[in-house]
Amino acid sequence: MTGPGETDLTVRRAKRSDAADFASHVVRHLSESGSAGAPEFAPVRSASRSDVLDAAELRWSRPAGEAGWGRAVLLVQPRPSEPFGPSPLRVVGHAELVGSAIPASLHRATLTIGVERAYVGRGHGRALADAVLELAREAPSLVYVDAHVFASNERAIALYASLGFAETARIPDAFRVRDGRPVADVLMTKVIGR
Ligand SMILES: CC(C)(COP(=O)(O)OP(=O)(O)OC[C@H]1O[C@@H](n2cnc3c(N)ncnc32)[C@H](O)[C@@H]1OP(=O)(O)O)[C@@H](O)C(=O)NCCC(=O)NCCS
Repeated sequence: MTGPGETDLTVRRAKRSDAADFASHVVRHLSESGSAGAPEFAPVRSASRSDVLDAAELRWSRPAGEAGWGRAVLLVQPRPSEPFGPSPLRVVGHAELVGSAIPASLHRATLTIGVERAYVGRGHGRALADAVLELAREAPSLVYVDAHVFASNERAIALYASLGFAETARIPDAFRVRDGRPVADVLMTKVIGR
């Protein structure tokens, strides 16, 4: 079974002008955490679209490897052009590297990855991860890529492990989600190789 527009989906690097479509995707994606049979994957289920947009524009405008930098790849689906629409595409997945805000830890960046529910299980997560790790290898001074994942999120843990990430830390009861149930935060790290 294919999802809506499945055959048209492509992974490409994000440009600053994609920040608005990226923000809309992040807001939709977060609302899916723990809903309609999806695993719980985030400590929050909502975010301000304008805050996400502003922060992404800022990160993506900084040179890679400088304090506060960020770079992303997007899973995009073209949508029919609308006469007054701002953009001819829809973002349905992302993988982003967020660098440290301080010089002392610029050798590390944090990876986030998310595919909207209608598109999971079809290889897009792996394609996004491969593309973002290529970006990581290009980033000056980057040695470690860190990924935080809920201990209960087997799908993400399996994906990260298959990419060479290994558990480096675990905080039990890091979050209390929904009904107050404790969730452990697992830190998985990949050495990029410098
Ligand atoms: C984790 C996530 C990005 C994976 O994306 P995806 O498009 O479903 O993944 P893919 O189809 O590319 O599969 C990649 C790997 O994930 C794992 N995986 C996928 N579906 C799985 C399932 N149902 N059960 C266990 N592992 C699974 C497998 O290791 C798979 O590799 P394989 O196909 O070679 O066996 C996606 O499920 C998602 O967005 N989840 C919610 C957000 C999230 O958890 N983000 C990461 C932590 S913050």
